[in-house]
Amino acid sequence: MAASFKIDFQGHEGASGQAPGKAGSGDLIVFVGDDLKPAPAAAKRIGPRAVDLIARAAAAESFKGKTKSSMTIVVPAGLAADRLVVIGVGGEKDRADLDWVQLGGLIAGKVNGKTATAVLDLPGIEASPDAVADVVLGMQLRRYSFDRYKTKKDENKTEGVTKVSLSVADPAAVRKVHRAREGILDGVVIARDLVNEPPNVLGPQEFAARAGALAKLGVEVEILDEKAMRKLGMNALLGVAQGSVRGARVAVMRWNGGKAADKPIAFIGKGVVFDSGGISIKPGAGMEDMKGDMAGAACVVGLMHALASRKAKANVVGAIGLVENMPDGNAQRPGDIVTTMSGQTIEIINTDAEGRLVLADVLWYVQDRFKPKFMVNLATLTGAILVALAQEYAGLFSNNDELAERLALAGKATGERVWRMPLGPEFDKMIDSKFADMKNSAGRYGGSSTAAALLQRFVNDVPWAHLDIAGTAMGSPQNEINKGWASGWGVRLLDRLVRDHYEA
Ligand code: BES
Ligand code: MN
Ligand code: ZN
Repeated sequence: MAASFKIDFQGHEGASGQAPGKAGSGDLIVFVGDDLKPAPAAAKRIGPRAVDLIARAAAAESFKGKTKSSMTIVVPAGLAADRLVVIGVGGEKDRADLDWVQLGGLIAGKVNGKTATAVLDLPGIEASPDAVADVVLGMQLRRYSFDRYKTKKDENKTEGVTKVSLSVADPAAVRKVHRAREGILDGVVIARDLVNEPPNVLGPQEFAARAGALAKLGVEVEILDEKAMRKLGMNALLGVAQGSVRGARVAVMRWNGGKAADKPIAFIGKGVVFDSGGISIKPGAGMEDMKGDMAGAACVVGLMHALASRKAKANVVGAIGLVENMPDGNAQRPGDIVTTMSGQTIEIINTDAEGRLVLADVLWYVQDRFKPKFMVNLATLTGAILVALAQEYAGLFSNNDELAERLALAGKATGERVWRMPLGPEFDKMIDSKFADMKNSAGRYGGSSTAAALLQRFVNDVPWAHLDIAGTAMGSPQNEINKGWASGWGVRLLDRLVRDHYEA
C-alpha cells in the first residue's frame, strides 16, 4: 500500500484558518450545497471574504455545487492555505443519500500537497462521528495501490506521507469511533492485497499461511491438508486440485467473541488461486485475471481480520477452500464422477465449473461441524453474473428472505450492493445428471442460477446466502475509493451485516 494519509482530528473552534497566509500551508477543503454556501463552522473558518469569493468564482466557473463536483480557487489573502478546494454536496435530496466513504475518496483525490485541512462541517447534513470515520476510510482506500512488484516506484506515489487535519464537531468522539473501526480498512486492504498478488506467489499453501497470520489477533486457525480432506471425503474439492502440483488446503478460522453457548455465524469463500479452466481450458485472452478467482476467500480473511480487530461480540467461523485448477496428465476430466463429503455424487461436465465443486464440500463441512445460525458464501463463481448485473451489483441467492433482506440493507448502507437472483425447482432440475446425482454444468442459460442451485444442495436447510462476486471483486470500474484492480468487495458489507444484526 502506498503511504497512507496521516490523519488527525481537531475541533472547529481550535482552527486558525484566518491566520496570515503562508505558502506551504497546504489545501483547505470546504463543502457547499447547491446554494453555494458553506455551513456555519466552515464559513467562520474561511471568513466572509472567502465565502463571497466562492460565490463569485462559482458563477465564473459555472460551478453549481452539485454532488461530486468541485472547484479549486486561488486563496484569498489572509487565509492560511495554498489552495481552497470547494466540494459540492448538492441539494437536500442528494444529501439524504450521501455516501460518506465515497466522499472521503473524493476528498483524497483533491489533496495534492503535503498537508491539507478539510472542514467537515457540511451544509444541511450532520457529519456524525460514524460519518467522519467513513470519510477517513474512503480517503485511505483511495490511497491504496499495489506496487510491491514495481522496482521503480512512481514518484508521485512515493513522495511520502500527506498529513490531513480533519476539522470536526467533536474530536474526542470521532477519535473513539475511528479507532474502533480501523480494522475495517486493514481488512479491505488484506483482501485487496490477496487478490492482487500473482498466482505464483500465492498458492493454496501460502494463502493458508496468510489466514494463519490472524492468530495474532486471537483468531483460532486450523489448516486442513489433503490427507485430512481425504479422510473427510472432500473428493469434489480434491478433484479440482488434482491437476495442480500444489496441494489443496482448507483454512478454518474461528473468532469466539460471543457467548460460549451461542451458535456461530459462518462465512465461506471460494479460493481458487488460479483458474485455468483445467482440461476444459479457458481461452488465453484475459486468463491472467483468473489469479483473482480467490476473491471470495480473500474477503473472508479480510472480514475475520476486521471482526477480530474490533473484538466483535459474536461467534464467527470463516472457512475457505484453497485450490489451483490446472490441466495436467492427472487432472480431472469431463465425464468423471466424484463423491462429495455429503455422499452426493457429481458428474463433471466442464472442469471450468470448479468453484461450485470446491464450495460443495466446504459448505457441507461447515454446516455439519458447526451447525451455524446461517452461512454466507462468497465466490467469483460465474461469468454469467457479469452478463446479468455488470459490475455494479453482486448476485445474491438465498433460501432465506430475512437473511437476504439484511444483506440488501447492509449493501445499501455500505454501497457494496447486492441484487437478488432466483433459485428454485426449475433451476434445480436443470442440474440433474444422466449418470450421477447432479452435474456441474447445465450450459449457458441461467448459468448463475444453476450454479447456485448446485450449492443449495449442500447447505442442508441452514439459512444460507450465496454472493456471486465475479463482477464486483476485481477489474471493477474505477470509483472514488478504488483506483486499482482488486476492490476488496464484501469486507465492509459483511462487517456491517454482523454489526447491525448479530452482535450481542
Ligand atoms: N472463475 C470462473 C468465473 C469467472 C468469470 C470469474 C469471469 C471472474 C470473471 C468460473 O470458475 C468459471 O469458469 N465459470 C464458468 C462456468 C461454466 C463453465 C459453466 C463460466 O462462467 O463460464
Ligand atoms: Mn472456472
Ligand atoms: Zn473459477
